[in-house]
Amino acid sequence: MATAKLLVIVVALLATASSSCGAWEVNIRMPTAARAMEQAAARLLERAADDVAAPVIHALRPLVGSAGDLGRRGGVPCDSWRLAVEAYNKRDWRTVPASCEDYLGHYMLGGHYRRDSRVVVDEAVAYAEGLKLAGNGREVWVFDIDETSLSNLPYYAKHGFGTELYNSTSFKEYVLEGSAPVLPETQRLFRKLISLGIKPVFLTGRTEDQRAITVANLRRQGYSGWMNLLLKPVGFKASAVAYKSGERQKLQDAGYVIVGNIGDQWSDIIGAPEGARTFKLPDPMYYIG
Ligand SMILES: *[C@@H]1O[C@H](CO)[C@@H](O)[C@H](O)[C@H]1NC(C)=O
Ligand SMILES: [Mg+2]
Repeated sequence: MATAKLLVIVVALLATASSSCGAWEVNIRMPTAARAMEQAAARLLERAADDVAAPVIHALRPLVGSAGDLGRRGGVPCDSWRLAVEAYNKRDWRTVPASCEDYLGHYMLGGHYRRDSRVVVDEAVAYAEGLKLAGNGREVWVFDIDETSLSNLPYYAKHGFGTELYNSTSFKEYVLEGSAPVLPETQRLFRKLISLGIKPVFLTGRTEDQRAITVANLRRQGYSGWMNLLLKPVGFKASAVAYKSGERQKLQDAGYVIVGNIGDQWSDIIGAPEGARTFKLPDPMYYIG
């Protein structure tokens, strides 16, 4: 009886899940085809958490497997590894542990990543709405681009979700396609800030020679109304922290007040002046120091 009821819920939720892929997920696939089912099931779990009684969640969880289980099966506690990365306890790492590829595939595509990003942006929006603004046009918010405003998940899904060593040649080729999808949560913040009179400034490690394609990509994905797009000079040799904090200092020296700063790397949000408040989006796929 309970099983039949469960099956009905599963089928109904799977149907919903399969029709609800956001545009940013188009053309992105799990590491193997068999995982499409688990991906849908992961979304299902997320939905189920909202409207289905707890015992059903318990019954489903062992069937679909949480990403943490996958990590443990691979011999690496991938969930603990991810937490260490996000908390900046783990630094200067070059690749995701090979046995965590499936785990990260699930994390990035199964709904967890989006959910984590949503929590960050909800906090950022609440913070922005609570600000007492001078309204003098001098208040700005710094946005990183990669894995913050745009997602390179189509690239990383093809390259082991960070388990492969970074290849600057193939990554640049991908960037020059200008096809990176939007990160919808960040765009929600971007638009909210504009409506509040806070000016977005893009500050990216992308280089000046990628300006045209970056602008085209941002526009294609629905971004408009930014105050400034700051790219790194070609051949500029400095750490991300030194480069980005230097650019923020210039903004401040020009009379702007950085009320907020959001990025997926710690190097986006450390180094004075950081901005009045910083927000760290999830990114377990790569590290930029
Ligand atoms: C890096 O990418 C380029 C372009 O796709 C490719 O030709 C090259 O073999 C790759 N290098 C490595 C080490 O995989
Ligand atoms: Mg980034």
